[in-house]
Amino acid sequence: MSYALVVPSGMHAPDQEVASLMTHRPLRLVVATAAISAAALLLSACGGDATDTSAPSSNAKVEGAITVYNAQHEELSQAWVDAFTKETGVKVTIRNGSDTELSNQIVAEGKASPADVFLTENSPAMAQVENADLFADVDKATLEQVPSQFRPSTAKWTGIAARSTVLVYDKRKVKEDELPKSMLDLAKPEWKGRWAASPTGADFQAIVAALIELKGADAAEQWLTAMKQNAKPYKGNSTAMKAVNAGEVETALIYHYYYYGDQAGTGENSANVAPYFFKNQDPGAFLSVSGGGVLKSSKNPAAAQALLKFITGKAGQEVLHTGDSFEYAIASDVPANAALVPIADLQSPTVDPAKLNSKTVTDLMTKAGLL
Ligand SMILES: [Fe+2]
Repeated sequence: MSYALVVPSGMHAPDQEVASLMTHRPLRLVVATAAISAAALLLSACGGDATDTSAPSSNAKVEGAITVYNAQHEELSQAWVDAFTKETGVKVTIRNGSDTELSNQIVAEGKASPADVFLTENSPAMAQVENADLFADVDKATLEQVPSQFRPSTAKWTGIAARSTVLVYDKRKVKEDELPKSMLDLAKPEWKGRWAASPTGADFQAIVAALIELKGADAAEQWLTAMKQNAKPYKGNSTAMKAVNAGEVETALIYHYYYYGDQAGTGENSANVAPYFFKNQDPGAFLSVSGGGVLKSSKNPAAAQALLKFITGKAGQEVLHTGDSFEYAIASDVPANAALVPIADLQSPTVDPAKLNSKTVTDLMTKAGLL
């Protein structure tokens, strides 16, 4: 079985995951880079060593403007920001990009970054910025809204939403009881050529990061080596699900919201597909935490902290509960969207999001020939 590389014509950079079924984002940061670099120079020339790490109190006066580097789905973050601006009057500028693109940019900009807040789809990009010591502590009032399993032990950023790993399968070809009991079984010879994934995306790489954390680097390397033999790579989770729906491949290892988003719409890319959750604390039951953090270098930390508090508060989490992002609400006791399997029933493994390391992931995946 050859390693069929299916790359749809499109405008996505290699590491940019398709954000949602509805949101295909062009890269806008390329054109913004020159302006950002100029701003960075200007800021460092002013000698602004803005490293206010003190967490402002949650009732500090909030005003002015902030800039959000956003790697979350554009519609979701726009809904959060619009409601926040309506409530507080704070003007918010959003710069969109992928997890890795924006984490790399923040690290390159360092203290001169114009970003006040960083929002991601997955944890490894947050961990990268945290490891560069660029995050301020998150306000205590915000942390108190988020159960500890949905935020890093370090409290340098917080979870804002979550997404579950899922194996979607072609109902016409496979019965549920024929599916593997564990994600690790996809490495077995009988699964050769029978599953798809999007290895270049931050979504899949977060699953690999969790595998490393749960089973160790050696076990992860063996699994990735088998994946190179067994899996059909597609570019983007929605493309992988479409391939299952079209009968090209029996299953795909993706995130849950691609299926539920399509089902809530036309269903045209998932009519022949069903979701299968590994559960049982399996690495394949990994629940990936989307992150939000405030940069130490923020010139308006009170407003930046207020945005995180808003997103993790009742109103922000209700956007997840009632909207069409189909990502999981995780904070302020707001339940999941009614269409989803409740989080408690996913039986996800316990993983500290602060320990998910993107560098080890890309090293191992490169070694395995997947990148
Ligand atoms: Fe995604």
